[in-house]
Amino acid sequence: DSLLIAIDGPSGSGKSSTSRGVAQRLGLAYLDTGSLYRAAAICFLESGLDVAQTEQIAALVTSAAITPGTDPLHPSTMLDGRDVTAEIREPRVSEKVSVVATNLAVREWLNEQFRTIIAAADRRIVVEGRDITTVVAPDADLRVLLVADPAARIARRQAELGGSVNADQVTDQVVRRDRDDATVSQFEEPAEGVELVDSTHMGLDEVIETICGMVPG
Ligand code: CDP
Repeated sequence: DSLLIAIDGPSGSGKSSTSRGVAQRLGLAYLDTGSLYRAAAICFLESGLDVAQTEQIAALVTSAAITPGTDPLHPSTMLDGRDVTAEIREPRVSEKVSVVATNLAVREWLNEQFRTIIAAADRRIVVEGRDITTVVAPDADLRVLLVADPAARIARRQAELGGSVNADQVTDQVVRRDRDDATVSQFEEPAEGVELVDSTHMGLDEVIETICGMVPG
C-alpha cells in the first residue's frame, strides 16, 4: 500500500533527522529534496556563471545527473557520477543555494525528478523539503509542517556542524536562508490538511513518535 509522507520545515527544525527516523521506523524509503538543490548549487558554483544568467544556470543544472540515495540509514548524493554527499553541506554551498532555489526552471525540473523518485519507490517514501506538502506531493497520505523557534533552530544547526563553522555562519545559514526561502515556503501557517508539529521543546524520539502516531489507517 502507498504510504507517502511529506514533511516541510525551515532550517534547523529537525526535519532531516526526523524524516530519516520516521522512514526507518516505518520501513519506507527517504528523499531529502534539499540535497538536490544543494547539488544544483554546486553545478552553479563550479560553472563561473553570474547569478543574473538565469537561463544558462537552468540549462546547466537540467543537463546534470543528480541522483540521491533513498536509504534513510545512508543518505548520499551523486552529481555527474561524483559523490558530493559531504560537499553539499559546506557553508559555501548553503550560501549560494538560493540562486538555484529561486530559479523557476530549475524548480520545475527538480520537481519532475522528485515525482519520478516517488513513483519508483511505489509511493512508500518519506519526502522532506520546503514545498513538499503544497507543490510536490499535495496528495500525500500524511503531510506535516515541522517548526521550531529560531533560537532552538540556530542551536541545533550549531550542534550539527560542530566546531567547523563560527556562530555568525550558523546564524547566516538559518536566519538569512529563512528570508531567501520566503518566496517558496510559508511556515507561519500550515496549508489546509497539513498537521503542524512544533519541535521547540521536544526531543528527536518524541517528534518521530508523534509523526508516526499521525499515520492514517
Ligand atoms: O539545511 P537545511 O535543512 O536548512 O536546508 P535543505 O533542506 O538542505 O535545503 C537547502 C535549500 O534548498 C533551502 O534553503 C531552500 O533554498 C532549498 N530548497 C527548496 O527551495 N525547496 C525544497 N523542497 C528543498 C530545499
